[in-house]
Amino acid sequence: MATSALALDNISAFYGDSHVLHGVSFTLGEGRLLGLLGRNGAGKSTCMNVIVGLLRAREGDISVFGESVRRMSPELIASRGVALVPQGRRIFRSLTVRENLIVATRNGNGKKAAWTDETVFAMFPRLRERRSQLAAHLSGGEQQMLAIGRALMNNPRVLLMDEPSEGLAPQIVAEVMGTIRTLKASGLSILLVEQNPRLVFDIADDVVILNSGEIALAGSAKAINPNDARVAQYLGVF
Ligand SMILES: Nc1ncnc2c1ncn2[C@@H]1O[C@H](COP(=O)(O)OP(=O)(O)OP(=O)(O)O)[C@@H](O)[C@H]1O
Ligand SMILES: [Mg+2]
Repeated sequence: MATSALALDNISAFYGDSHVLHGVSFTLGEGRLLGLLGRNGAGKSTCMNVIVGLLRAREGDISVFGESVRRMSPELIASRGVALVPQGRRIFRSLTVRENLIVATRNGNGKKAAWTDETVFAMFPRLRERRSQLAAHLSGGEQQMLAIGRALMNNPRVLLMDEPSEGLAPQIVAEVMGTIRTLKASGLSILLVEQNPRLVFDIADDVVILNSGEIALAGSAKAINPNDARVAQYLGVF
């Protein structure tokens, strides 16, 4: 069997008494890109929160390269090579571009760090030009690049991206998608949360559709017909 980079097994999660995830299971294969789709409020970000340890699953298990992380702190889960590009970017607006990267530096498992501010700047030359500017002054696309760069400074093996295209102009979305392809080609395993099915079916190996905290549809991107009536039912018009 192919190695799984990340596996959710029957995860249930609550905010207080509100039951949000109902037995969610899916597997991200090593080096693959899994697109997680669903309408507003379907539970996509909640899946991300549970994976990175910000929200405890009440039931089920999560493993990263075969090791259970369900009871680990967010810091320990990050040390296992999981990094999140959060919804809404969440960069430090009052720090400079370079400071945003430096504060996120983590040498994965004591190995020599692969990602540095220099390698991030090589990937995003516009960030190099703006390295000394406050992050608050960046455009939306540049802020998204910074959020991705900051996650890379963690030297992840599994990269979680929560709606990286949100609020960006089509040209910038295309750039971000190009970056995601490059990262995938470098061997990263990627979980991409999106609301836009076009983007996901274009780039993903596997697709999971969440509906009200349950898996409604899952399979390889090639096997699911984007024009399937169920896709429209769970996501709106495609
Ligand atoms: N901190 C919270 N406390 C209570 N309920 C929450 C909290 N965060 C999210 N929820 C609720 O949990 C459900 C799932 O939310 P979640 O943010 O995971 O959805 P999502 O699929 O990421 O949606 P979107 O596409 O809008 O980002 C929603 O009903 C939401 O209102
Ligand atoms: Mg969300």
